Amino acid sequence: MAVLFVLGALQGLVGWIMVKSGLVPEKYYVGHVELTTHLIAAIVLLVYTAWFAFNLLPSMQQKIFSPALKNKLTLLSILLFFQLVYGGFMAGLKAASVAPTWPSINGKYFPEYMFAEGSLANNLLNNTIMIHFVHRGLAYLLLLLVIFYSINAFKVKGNKLFNSLNKLLLSLFLLQVLLGILTVINSTDKQKMVWLGVSHQLVAMLIVLTITGLFVFLKKQIQGGQIDK
Ligand code: HEM
Repeated sequence: MAVLFVLGALQGLVGWIMVKSGLVPEKYYVGHVELTTHLIAAIVLLVYTAWFAFNLLPSMQQKIFSPALKNKLTLLSILLFFQLVYGGFMAGLKAASVAPTWPSINGKYFPEYMFAEGSLANNLLNNTIMIHFVHRGLAYLLLLLVIFYSINAFKVKGNKLFNSLNKLLLSLFLLQVLLGILTVINSTDKQKMVWLGVSHQLVAMLIVLTITGLFVFLKKQIQGGQIDK
């Protein structure tokens, strides 16, 4: 509960820093790095709250011993973290409308001007076309990884909730990629863009919650309950 309190207070502080970054005459929109920091801090708070609650659920007490599956889920989560950061950059820089085409990015798979802003670090942090390319690329990589994870996870015998969470994860990823594509190709229509962007953000949070639930189930060491190598 103390950690929850600290994370909540931190979120307020980061929120204020973000708002302050937009209080610049003739700018009046927040910095994309500050917005992303606020998004990630919110996700940390969400994950901690869910972890806390899930651990109290009787249906999550039956653990599953599968180091291999847990490693795959860890790799997926690391990649997802970077995808969430780049999602924040996409929203903060209004990068969708820079390339409202799919499957190509303005007619190219490796778009021009990806390295137009000096150093690699500067391009990765501030160049909308590079950020667009990374966000799309990571999405396809994540989708492949989640399919690979699912093929393995579906073979593991867990309880009903564990099996449902695995099916939910694959379904949410497919939906998320579809929503991302729809967000991009509708990004010149302001009204559609808002709804699609918000739905895309909501599904990202549902993915994070589902993965948190799966981590509560998966253990690397035997603590009683289901055993699967
Ligand atoms: C693996 C799946 C994906 C995840 C987890 C993900 C996650 C996110 C997140 C968290 C945001 C920030 C939302 C916000 O703060 O408003 C975002 C924004 C965005 N994403 Fe994705 N994304 C994924 C796939 C895709 C794909 C495949 C595309 C397009 C081909 C895409 C296009 C966009 C666009 C255009 C935005 C900016 C929306 C806005 O300006 O409000 N995403 N994404």
